[in-house]
Amino acid sequence: MEELKDIEALLVEERTFTPPEEFVERANITDPGIYEEARRDPERFWANFAQELEWFRPWKKVLEWNPPYAKWFVGGKLNISYNCLDRHVKGPRKNKAAIIWEGEPGDTRTLTYFELYREVNKFANVLKKLGVKKGDRVAIYLPMIPELPIAMLACARIGAPHSVVFSAFSSKALQERTEDSKAKLLITADGYYRGGKVEQLKERADEAAAACPSIEKVVVVKRIGREVPMQKGRDFWWDELMRDAPAYCEPEQMDSEDMLYILYTSGTTGKPKGVVHTTGGYLVGVYATMKWIFDIKEEDTFWCTADIGWVTGHSYIVYGPLAVGTTSLIYESVPNYPQPDRFWEIVEKYSVNIFYTAPTAIRAFTRDGEEWPNKHDLSSLRLLGSVGEPINPEAWMWYHRVIGKERCPIVDTWWQTETGMILISPLPGITRTKPGSATFPFPGVEAEIVDKDGRPVPPGRGGYLAIMRPWPAMLRTIYGDPARYEKYWNQVPGIYFTGDGAKKDEDGYFWIVGRIDDVINVSGHRLSTMEVESALVEHPAVVEAAAVGKSHPLKGQALTAFVILAPGYEESPALVQELRNKVAEVIGPIAKPDEIIFVPDLPKTRSGKIMRRILKDLAERRELGDTTTLRDPAIVDEIRKKMGY
Ligand code: PRX
Repeated sequence: MEELKDIEALLVEERTFTPPEEFVERANITDPGIYEEARRDPERFWANFAQELEWFRPWKKVLEWNPPYAKWFVGGKLNISYNCLDRHVKGPRKNKAAIIWEGEPGDTRTLTYFELYREVNKFANVLKKLGVKKGDRVAIYLPMIPELPIAMLACARIGAPHSVVFSAFSSKALQERTEDSKAKLLITADGYYRGGKVEQLKERADEAAAACPSIEKVVVVKRIGREVPMQKGRDFWWDELMRDAPAYCEPEQMDSEDMLYILYTSGTTGKPKGVVHTTGGYLVGVYATMKWIFDIKEEDTFWCTADIGWVTGHSYIVYGPLAVGTTSLIYESVPNYPQPDRFWEIVEKYSVNIFYTAPTAIRAFTRDGEEWPNKHDLSSLRLLGSVGEPINPEAWMWYHRVIGKERCPIVDTWWQTETGMILISPLPGITRTKPGSATFPFPGVEAEIVDKDGRPVPPGRGGYLAIMRPWPAMLRTIYGDPARYEKYWNQVPGIYFTGDGAKKDEDGYFWIVGRIDDVINVSGHRLSTMEVESALVEHPAVVEAAAVGKSHPLKGQALTAFVILAPGYEESPALVQELRNKVAEVIGPIAKPDEIIFVPDLPKTRSGKIMRRILKDLAERRELGDTTTLRDPAIVDEIRKKMGY
């Protein structure tokens, strides 16, 4: 495959960074021997972490593996909200800050473990009163406010799987996901702040709720305090429901394999897939990685800047941090409001110790200039993290020098919605890092670079990133679509194909290049090009559309769409705008193509299959690969001329 050749051409970074001595002295894990120990007996390795958590009933078996179906901590009973809250409230963490929240306008709220515990208990009782029972799905369409983790933990407490939908997704996106999950209840807000403006979330939620017969009731949080339409008998204000709710709710005794949540993510088709995570293994996975990769200490304040609407927020703002009993910071909005130093202001204000963000944000900071972080005291920081896309060595070096002041290790963490937990990352007290490499699989995780038959390829060769054995936080299925789940494991039975291309260098370091399927990553947001295409063809002016990713200096990747117009339509800047808006309406503003190119036809093979490889070359404006297999090679030259290169 040509993509795999590109991977081989990737330059290997020669710089290396050993963990600073003062970091190693206090690190949670410093013995490299644990890699071998975990390899020899991975089940015991995971069970040791599981033993640090509280189970209502112990498990009988660590792993039951009937490929591609795994069960972890079989027979165990537990509750994840109990482990994130009750466990801490019983001890000295009772009045420690669990969540520190900062709103865009600068308003703040701090919830101690006890306060969070009480809110979660009360909201769990509210859910029950509204008729939500164990197993019922609850859709959550909330911005980054404390009620979002409260709602998630309350669902977990009563055993109702949540389906959080990113608040910047459109009403159609919410509708599509809710139709699939058949959620009974929807939790939303009157709005939220974004770059100084108010987003009208309730109105978007209403559109979706009206189209989803499964939704019986809607709970609305007052974030803004604005007037919004409320449907009598269906809509209820959060604060009114909470007023009379009893302060304690017995946690449901969940089976280790009971569903914790569904989170929709983009695949290679137009329909998002509902990734299913369960209870016991997921908790163990996020707990272990939180402890060892983020090296959490009792006094730390941990800030993951992702949105809880994505898996990073589920695992490393909510469940992971609370499972280890740390203080998790939540910020409502964007990094550059009102000025490009908002993040650094927050780091200074709350004395953040561990900071976890995405390469796209780091690239934007490098462009804004060093003067912004330099205005602030960042000396509290001791560890930095990166997630969501490959970090280019230059961005890594900037992060290391300007934010970490050359004394903070950087953990570049590779994982996916499907993996639930970080699978490839340095251990900050052990690993010598190389800028741009996620380094090595976490102990107990077996990752490989393989060919299409699942055979490991030699160092330096590009291949498919695969996971060779099950891991505790792995997805268990795709909601309502087991066949789609099995696809991950079908290429070679028993091996999980990640969809990423990667290589290992001579020292065994993993270098992840990114997706080799039709999934792209725009500013760390995972999108399917097929979803964008189906949004475009919903517009009457569009007969056919093909969207591909191209590299972008800030966003990592951006979208270029090639569009064939219907008769009677003329290309114009106004039409371009209209089509971009159409995509925003169907998916959300993040999915708007950067570029729309009107073409008379698309490059297709004789059998009519669109040759995306050629479209990618065109989008990148580079030399075209082999065009001889095209039905009409002339079309490519025509498009190229049109694009002016
Ligand atoms: O391509 C990889 C990229 O993000 C994809 C997963 O996206 P999503 O499910 O939305 O989860 C993102 C947050 C965990 C992967 O298939 N990716 C994620 N982290 C990295 C990465 N690529 C390179 N380096 C990473 N550290």
